[in-house]
Amino acid sequence: MTQILCVAGARPNFMKIAPVMAALREAGIAAQLLHTGQHYDAAMSDSFFADLGIPQPDHHLEVGSASHAVQTAEIMKRFEPVLERAQPQAVLVVGDVNSTIACALVAAKRGVRVIHVEAGLRSYDRAMPEEINRVLTDQLSDLLFTTEKSALANLMREGIDPARVEFVGNVMIDTLHRNLARAVPAAATLGAAVGEYAVLTLHRPSNVDDPDTLAALLGVIAEINRQLPVVTPLHPRTRANIEKFGLADKLDGLRVLPPVGYLEMLGLMRDAKLVLTDSGGLQEETTALGVPCLTLRENTERPITLDEGTNTLVGPSPAAIRRAFDDVMANGGKRGRIPEYWDGRAATRIAHALKGWLPMQKGLRAA
Ligand code: UD1
Repeated sequence: MTQILCVAGARPNFMKIAPVMAALREAGIAAQLLHTGQHYDAAMSDSFFADLGIPQPDHHLEVGSASHAVQTAEIMKRFEPVLERAQPQAVLVVGDVNSTIACALVAAKRGVRVIHVEAGLRSYDRAMPEEINRVLTDQLSDLLFTTEKSALANLMREGIDPARVEFVGNVMIDTLHRNLARAVPAAATLGAAVGEYAVLTLHRPSNVDDPDTLAALLGVIAEINRQLPVVTPLHPRTRANIEKFGLADKLDGLRVLPPVGYLEMLGLMRDAKLVLTDSGGLQEETTALGVPCLTLRENTERPITLDEGTNTLVGPSPAAIRRAFDDVMANGGKRGRIPEYWDGRAATRIAHALKGWLPMQKGLRAA
């Protein structure tokens, strides 16, 4: 019998599901893995399964790319019969991507318990598709595992019973701890020396879908690159938009890479002088690594990285990015501390909590 059906679909899900699957196995909880196929390129998906030792999915929905509505609907349509066949006691979803909300919604409506890992994060910016996914997934969830304490207050504000919320720490940092010794040194990926380059990642629709915004961002990055070499693994969305908007010449002089594997990315971050990003995950990983991070967004759903970590919220304005960069060059950047429970044991806490929770769920499945 499958006790827990775990769901992953897009790149940032894979480093979260890896330690959860491992901890469930160690705890003797029968789990299956479902891949929605939201991300499907070898570089965006397969390489993470190989690098992180994630078991091959038991189910694959192969949905691929589409508009949000079509992608979400397609995942839902394809997930429902799988759920019916697998008959798990609970569905476990991670993060905030379309796969997360789609599977949570199907499970909740079939009367199957929903467990959300990385619950309660809020940017309070509904223009961000992930924020909608977060709010709705949390409303549908029966058991909510949080990465930082601020999440509980967010959830209570939305009427969620604190008895269903458990602070366990950050499973993505479990993966970081487990793999840091295997990280590919930047010297091998780039030939660059430690601390002598910056890493840039950009893929948020708010930064890369508007030609003027993207052009302005690439303009200030080109300036920075004259002072400190910038290496940028390009997300497929960003690459496509750069071509569509005729901005390819703005990349001249940057070290442009295709999407890199987990171990290469970990090495690139660890060895960098600073990271410039609009990713959620990188804000947390740089805090765990003690590397200064400039976040090119107006807000963050991960405030602990600002309060305790190495993250600075800079926004997309070129002048502000320039100022923040100059400050890191002059002062070395923000030094942080490691947030509570970002200790490599979050997935073990989750498995432990589930050992107690699962037996209490018997017989609750809707007919
Ligand atoms: C998704 C997540 C975002 C996460 C990001 C990490 C949602 C709402 N967004 O955004 O939270 O930070 O993944 O990458 O779920 N594409 C490929 N190959 C792939 C996947 C995508 O070429 O394997 C291209 C396609 O042109 C696609 C575009 O990238 O249309 C965007 O992919 P999509 O999954 O829709 O959203 P992301 O921007 O990747």
